[in-house]
Amino acid sequence: MTGLTRRAALIGAMIAPTGRLAFGREPAPQPVPLPPPGPADLRSAAHTQGRFFGAAVQDGHLRGDFQFREAVLAQCDSLTPELALKWAAAHPAQDRFDFAAMDEIAAFARTNGKRVHGHTLLWHRSVPDWALAALAAKNWEPIHRYFGAAIPRYQDLIDYWDVVNEPLEIAGEADGLRRSPFFAAFGPDYIRRALHAARSLAPEAKLLINDYGLEHADAEGRARRRALLALIDGLRRQGAPLDGVGLQAHLDLARGVLDQTSLAAFLHELASRGLTVLVTELDVREADTARPLAERDEAVADAARAFLEVALDQPAVKGITTWGLSDRYSWLNAEGEGSAMRPGRNRGLPLDVGVQPKPFFHAALAALQKPPFFGNSPGGPLPGPSAGEGYGL
Ligand code: XIL
Repeated sequence: MTGLTRRAALIGAMIAPTGRLAFGREPAPQPVPLPPPGPADLRSAAHTQGRFFGAAVQDGHLRGDFQFREAVLAQCDSLTPELALKWAAAHPAQDRFDFAAMDEIAAFARTNGKRVHGHTLLWHRSVPDWALAALAAKNWEPIHRYFGAAIPRYQDLIDYWDVVNEPLEIAGEADGLRRSPFFAAFGPDYIRRALHAARSLAPEAKLLINDYGLEHADAEGRARRRALLALIDGLRRQGAPLDGVGLQAHLDLARGVLDQTSLAAFLHELASRGLTVLVTELDVREADTARPLAERDEAVADAARAFLEVALDQPAVKGITTWGLSDRYSWLNAEGEGSAMRPGRNRGLPLDVGVQPKPFFHAALAALQKPPFFGNSPGGPLPGPSAGEGYGL
């Protein structure tokens, strides 16, 4: 029995057919109808839970594709720039910024009452070439310049910043930290330093670490969870201004069924540290694209549902963002890094190539329409911090 039906049954057991509370020997309880379904778009459904819904977008798609733009307007509260705010894109030369694409997304957001997710300040895969030599010389100035230009420019729109993107790498050193150009220059302290630098420019925003590979409970996923918690605990000991964590949530059907219990326990570990959690890049990578479309779409929806059931059961999770909205534009459509896009090659987003809802959409909508009842997780309410310690890791 799910938490919701369990709850409905409990209420049903308490209310007599007259509608009054039943005491003593009363007639057998009647089933109570479920509440009517909530609003039929993702953002309105998220609002009923006090949450927001968003998607990653590119300026060119908003500009050139009316159908896609209308879908973004209807479904999203928050827009994540898929490319425009990355350092190499926005700061192509030491003395030259290029905020044209980001300004366009920002203008679209302002006109339409949307928010922007600040993705991202430091990412090892988006360091401009001109900055590499300076960083190698242990010079913080390039970072200072980018933060100083980007953060104040969008301060009216950005509530959350991914200050450091993908700092974890468990295949390498024992500390689980990626040997990025930032690490090479400043050691692990670059993360604390970046958070302080962002805080001084964005006193009101929530500052996040964003990373992938934390959702699946295989050996790699568990190691990444441990590395993240160790990083967080170290930063907290040093008083770093870390407000939350972004779980990218690039789910992968090749990695098997999601272990919901262990994911719930991991989210509880984050929440018990007082952190906000955002789902920042949800999508589903398919394993077998030779199957019939209907089967493929059900498998994708099942994975999204299993994930969202757990994520939305955790009050620390404040918003859900998908990495793209329609299979028409998804980074998973490329066969490999840099190869040509084939719209719909992978069907891992809520809307299909025709920008129409498919099972992922309906699964997400249903999950967001559930009245918040924290404790819906499989296995019931989560254990307290001490009972849960170490669990899921
Ligand atoms: C991806 C974009 O979607 C691609 O178009 C680009 O070529 C590479 O970056 N994790 C992140 C995102 O944090 O910024 C990445 O976006 C996807 C993985």
